[in-house]
Amino acid sequence: MEEPQIPKESIEKVFDKYEAQPSNLIPLLQESQEEFGYLPRQVMEKISDYLELPVSKIYGVATFYAQFRFEPLGKHMIKFCHGTACHVKAAEAITETIENELGIKTGETTEDGMFTIERVACLGCCSLAPVIMVDGEVHGNLTREKAKKVVEQYREGGE
Ligand code: FES
Repeated sequence: MEEPQIPKESIEKVFDKYEAQPSNLIPLLQESQEEFGYLPRQVMEKISDYLELPVSKIYGVATFYAQFRFEPLGKHMIKFCHGTACHVKAAEAITETIENELGIKTGETTEDGMFTIERVACLGCCSLAPVIMVDGEVHGNLTREKAKKVVEQYREGGE
């Protein structure tokens, strides 16, 4: 997916809050992700210029932390629960079904920007296991068939 152009002012707005010191790298990454939803390449390069650190170092630090993402999120976020109750009730099979249906792996976003999938711990509704959450809405008692239908429903919802 091609990266959208990030307006210079939006980047400056983030930088204005932090002095140009290497110790501000993590807060700058966090704030940038908060602002843009992920860490665009253009922003990573600007952080490198601003802190006078090599861009490879910025990526080195950012990739160390699971909290940072380097691709924009999809329009729909699907979270697979892999807590104990869901795990026992074949959450793995549901994950695999949806990954195959969308043609991506957990943590990735579809080419058309429609879906991002991620793995989470207990969603707090274990009696409905296995469970997924799509855009904050819980879908429980899933089977492979039901999981496919849920994806279809959001796909048809379109833009
Ligand atoms: S383990 Fe999945 S909702 Fe609790």
